[in-house]
Amino acid sequence: MSNDPNQKHKLADDARDLMSLPGQIHVDALEKKWIFVAFGLIGVFVAAILYTALAKHVHPPGEMETIDSARLHLSDEFAEDKLGVATLPDGSVKVTLVAARYGFYPREIRIPAGQPITFRVASADVLHGIHVPMTNMGTMVVPGYVSTVTTTFPKPGEYPMLCNEYCGMGHDHMWSKVTVVSRESWQAGNTQMQGR
Ligand code: CUA
Repeated sequence: MSNDPNQKHKLADDARDLMSLPGQIHVDALEKKWIFVAFGLIGVFVAAILYTALAKHVHPPGEMETIDSARLHLSDEFAEDKLGVATLPDGSVKVTLVAARYGFYPREIRIPAGQPITFRVASADVLHGIHVPMTNMGTMVVPGYVSTVTTTFPKPGEYPMLCNEYCGMGHDHMWSKVTVVSRESWQAGNTQMQGR
């Protein structure tokens, strides 16, 4: 140990620093800056979560709906004659689909652009995925569960509806056709059908 008196003073100072009360702890200016940055970032993240949850209504999937995949043909919603596009009494459009090796049934659907469409999809056999390229329509279709997606197709046109989960030898060929028509021709088509 050194006998240098200055050195002794320094040790005494260090010891005092260590034993000082929390309020008196010395924090380096740079360290202080980074503490603020870290807490600031946490604040930004929490604010982002609150904003998307409260203002934008972005939530994790909240409800889980189960169904017996082997008995879809006997269910109220997914029996063969119930599938396809339906306009509900409140004017909203609902599409009911069964995903089965190798296609989405019905194989062709026609829906209006620019308004929310609710898809309800169930698998009759194995895991499938449903995806319409260039849109945000996409979800997994897990056997035993009903997948619900509500989305809006902004532009009229013809779109493929593809399976994007490997489901067997025919996976590559598992697709159906979605025809999105303008709102006007959708309404015209509907009144025509009512007139028939
Ligand atoms: Cu169904 Cu891949």
